[in-house]
Amino acid sequence: MTTDTLSTEQVISLAKKYLTQNYTRYPVCLVRGENSWVWDAEGNRYLDFFPGWGCGLLGHCPPRVVQAVQEQVASLIHVPNTWYTEAQALLGQALSERTDFGGVCFFCNSGTEANEAAIKLARLNGKPKGRYKIVTLTGGFHGRTMGALTATAQPKYHAGVEPMLPGFNYAPFGDLAAIEKAIDGETCAVMLEPIQGEGGINLPPAGFLEGLRDLCDKQGLLLILDEVQTGMGRTGKWFAHQHWNIKPDIVTLAKALAGGVAMGGLIAKPEVGDKLKPGTHAATFGGNPIAARAALATIETIDAENLLERATQIGERFHARFTALKEKCPLITDVRAKGTMIGVELSVEGAPVVEACLKRGLLINCTHQTVLRLLPALTISDEQIDDGCDIMSEALQALKA
Ligand SMILES: Cc1ncc(COP(=O)(O)O)c(C=O)c1O
Repeated sequence: MTTDTLSTEQVISLAKKYLTQNYTRYPVCLVRGENSWVWDAEGNRYLDFFPGWGCGLLGHCPPRVVQAVQEQVASLIHVPNTWYTEAQALLGQALSERTDFGGVCFFCNSGTEANEAAIKLARLNGKPKGRYKIVTLTGGFHGRTMGALTATAQPKYHAGVEPMLPGFNYAPFGDLAAIEKAIDGETCAVMLEPIQGEGGINLPPAGFLEGLRDLCDKQGLLLILDEVQTGMGRTGKWFAHQHWNIKPDIVTLAKALAGGVAMGGLIAKPEVGDKLKPGTHAATFGGNPIAARAALATIETIDAENLLERATQIGERFHARFTALKEKCPLITDVRAKGTMIGVELSVEGAPVVEACLKRGLLINCTHQTVLRLLPALTISDEQIDDGCDIMSEALQALKA
């Protein structure tokens, strides 16, 4: 069977018949991508401010990643973790050297799996002291498997699949006193996103993450940071927590880790990670050579093209554009950005703006009903930023009219 020869209409009709209907999809079938551009089956071109739902950190089909995958796929597609591979070992080294705590790595295939591994690792560390509970924060998002889903303190995601897992307490993001209250003698860890993505690009209040580190130290708890969305240079540092100069015990990663190829993982302080012994945890595809080579190529690209610095510049350019627009457009109530994590909060639902942008050839996202979320590629040009912002401005003004 050939691929990418059907019309959008034909693809939609097959998808409606043969796929589960658990996604709300736009009636667009994408067939090709290059950096911040994507094309649909009819040849229409779109500017993508949200490539791959955060996975396209380097845009679509970044050349080093494409080449690495092509070379790897021709020599060895998959071997299980009963064998060593050079790619996985080198990736462990590359990530560890970019932490401030000399971490050790475990690899899997997605964000939710990375968080499941972190939850198990926290429990394994807490077990000798009889501790197993984890405090997570409202507005957070950690994934869709039952552990990560229970860690996600947004009731809408739990609806219909209860009962949830025992051993999770919730507290508001940014509220140290409430977090302290949620901790008891059986708590082993606090887990959170340093910047909440799905929750609306919520930045931590000043002193919050440092205070949380102190609190965890005092109470003997692990600090787990879910950097699935914030990690790998997205915010202008390899890991977002490095903006606040704290050292977590476990960091989880996915999305951008392998430049768009499916991969997840965690990095743990060695004295924490050493509780993952044979038999405690595993993933058949975890750290497979294709994904590992893609991740190495992603890191190489970020280094070679100075993209951490560029992420900061991109964030500043977007921030300046939307702050200026806010003066003219009262629908915008707040603008939040850290590198290429950008949130534009509206006083109205954002979905019509997403639709209006799509009609004008721009792909953006809306989260938390009222927050327009952009996770643009670190390789986007100033001209593309300006063109896309013009489209968003037009769409917002049209809504106001
Ligand atoms: C912060 C965070 N953690 C975990 C996940 C789950 O990742 P995945 O969909 O790869 O399981 C997401 C996905 O959006 C996320 O944003």
